[in-house]
Amino acid sequence: MKTMTRQITISPSLLSCDFTRIGEETRRVEAAGADWLHVDVMDGHFVPNLTIGPPLVKAIHGAATAPLDVHLMITNPLEFAGPYAKAGAHVLTFHWEPLGSAVAAREVIRAFREEGVAKVGISVNPDTDVQVVEDVLDEVDLVLVMSVFPGSGGQSFIADTLEKTRWLRASGYQGHVEMDGGVNGDTIADCAAAGADVLVAGSAIFGAEDMQATITSFRALAREAQEQENRG
Ligand code: DX5
Ligand code: ZN
Repeated sequence: MKTMTRQITISPSLLSCDFTRIGEETRRVEAAGADWLHVDVMDGHFVPNLTIGPPLVKAIHGAATAPLDVHLMITNPLEFAGPYAKAGAHVLTFHWEPLGSAVAAREVIRAFREEGVAKVGISVNPDTDVQVVEDVLDEVDLVLVMSVFPGSGGQSFIADTLEKTRWLRASGYQGHVEMDGGVNGDTIADCAAAGADVLVAGSAIFGAEDMQATITSFRALAREAQEQENRG
């Protein structure tokens, strides 16, 4: 299938950075070529882990120049629309699973927009059919396809999830498709070939010896895979 040329966005996940030096880590990954900064918010309910609250997002926003790509892995995104928007989220993404209906998802989308976030995203877990978001596709700027189960960094990429990205593009979706989890030098080309244009990587970037070379090579691999797909 022919795909259009889309700008590749690399969004390193700060979950894998050194939290004792988060401001320096933010600037280090920006200097290495990050386009967005992925911020993983976990609430101890939707996922067992507990991470980054609005005050820390605000602190990261103060240290950053790149847009914050905030991934809410939380049960009640409606309640936290205001705090995370005000803290500086540029992209604000919520999960389908705790809502479970297009009506509830629409309410969240509306709340995020009212709070003034630049881009609204919806995400699906590896065991959720991507078709559930079909009715709200024309209302979101981004679909985040989880390629691991949310909760922690450093897990292995689940290749079956590529099918969801392909389905989104085959259905004509023109917004951002982001893939998150287990993205690295071995998997990034498949993500881009399937139609993903935003690639999140945590451990592969923060664990790299040469962060800049890693981001540069990820971008090149993604571009090349996209071009090859376009050539058919
Ligand atoms: C998983 C998070 C991911 C994670 C990615 O719950 O949503 O953003 O930090 O980490 P890696 O790239 O190490 O799989
Ligand atoms: Zn994430």
